[in-house]
Amino acid sequence: MQQIKLQSTRLAGALVLALTGLAQAGEVEVLHYWTSGGEAKAAASLKATLQAKGDSWKDFAVAGGGGDSAMTVLKSRVVSGNAPAAAQIKGPSIQEWAREGVLANIDDVAKAEKWDEALPKVVSDIMKYKGSYVAAPVNVHRVNWLWINPEAFKKAGAKVPASWDEFFVAAEALKKAGLTPVAHGGQNWQDFTTFESVALGVGGVDFYKKALVQLDPATLASPTMEKVLATFKKVKDYTDKNAPGRDWNLATAMVIKGEAGMQLMGDWAKGEFVAAGKQPGKDFVCVAAPGTAAAYTFNIDSFAMFKLKGDDKVKAQKNLAAAIMSPEFQETFSLNKGSIPVRLNMKMDKFDDCAKASGKDFVASAKSGGLVPSIAHGMAVPSATEGAIKDVVSQFWNSDKMSAKDAMTRIAQAAKTR
Ligand code: BGC
Repeated sequence: MQQIKLQSTRLAGALVLALTGLAQAGEVEVLHYWTSGGEAKAAASLKATLQAKGDSWKDFAVAGGGGDSAMTVLKSRVVSGNAPAAAQIKGPSIQEWAREGVLANIDDVAKAEKWDEALPKVVSDIMKYKGSYVAAPVNVHRVNWLWINPEAFKKAGAKVPASWDEFFVAAEALKKAGLTPVAHGGQNWQDFTTFESVALGVGGVDFYKKALVQLDPATLASPTMEKVLATFKKVKDYTDKNAPGRDWNLATAMVIKGEAGMQLMGDWAKGEFVAAGKQPGKDFVCVAAPGTAAAYTFNIDSFAMFKLKGDDKVKAQKNLAAAIMSPEFQETFSLNKGSIPVRLNMKMDKFDDCAKASGKDFVASAKSGGLVPSIAHGMAVPSATEGAIKDVVSQFWNSDKMSAKDAMTRIAQAAKTR
């Protein structure tokens, strides 16, 4: 009897252990701002990948394109000691958070999955703090795109522009045809997305790097900068009166419906076209923003991992990091998101021509020196500097009184913000 009792206690113990093993699947709270049609589909694929590993996903979505609202919410959560497991943080901001001592080292995952070999160095450098991985890269977005509705262009007798002069000729024709030439949302990150494409197209790669990445005072005060600002401001003449405050995906919807002829936006816009059942080359056209065909403004989405308490949570967080870099996920996610995988040597046969062009141009521009970080999307300068410059650029866009010269002086001043 005694014997049997002992055995059954042992059995029960083993059962509890086995069950705890199962229950060790953890919850991962993920902060992101992917709430538009294409973005939500892409986010759902990340959730599904994680759930397939037995972990659960706690959605922490903060709407707002470009992520400004998400970053504000994140700050308050971290300050109150309640960080999520992962947050969509990009570029130099990863270093800023790591310096605060709140990010987790995920080198073990990176080593086991050979991230150093799987990633371009320009990407792995961004993901590391003091040589250790603290973030996992999701994809590569190209920012310097122009999205076109070919029907609208046909109606207006307009030609797809390759230079800024041609852009304004096309815009005039679209206007005469009673259409909104440029779909725009007046939010400072969208204003700056337009601004940096103009800067790259009008000023060229060297100007872009010197002025907006190195923040060289002489270049910021140069005649080229004045021309860039004047060209940028001229784009505004071709936007509609409802542009202020409009979300980027609603601007894309105007192009999808043919109410507007074109939009200057990164290729997350393609996610919207695709989610609406539209086909590239037929229902919409993607071309490099005028004058920027040989260059590539990159924007890499990534998740920074926060220090957590609890083995199950840490394990689940590592599962998420591994899932993000898996070839299957990289493919599915980018097919929905409009981006391309960040992993090297991925097959592109399931991707459309816009993505194939993006992949080819990424490699070519990396060789030629035309691969540049997007300022509008947090890839180039410290977040405080970026915010200060963005504000001036939007004030200039919105003001009837500020001259290009005034804007230059104020941008040079803002560039000193740290
Ligand atoms: C992000 C994209 C996002 C877009 C619009 C960009 O800064 O990198 O992932 O889709 O903003 O919210």
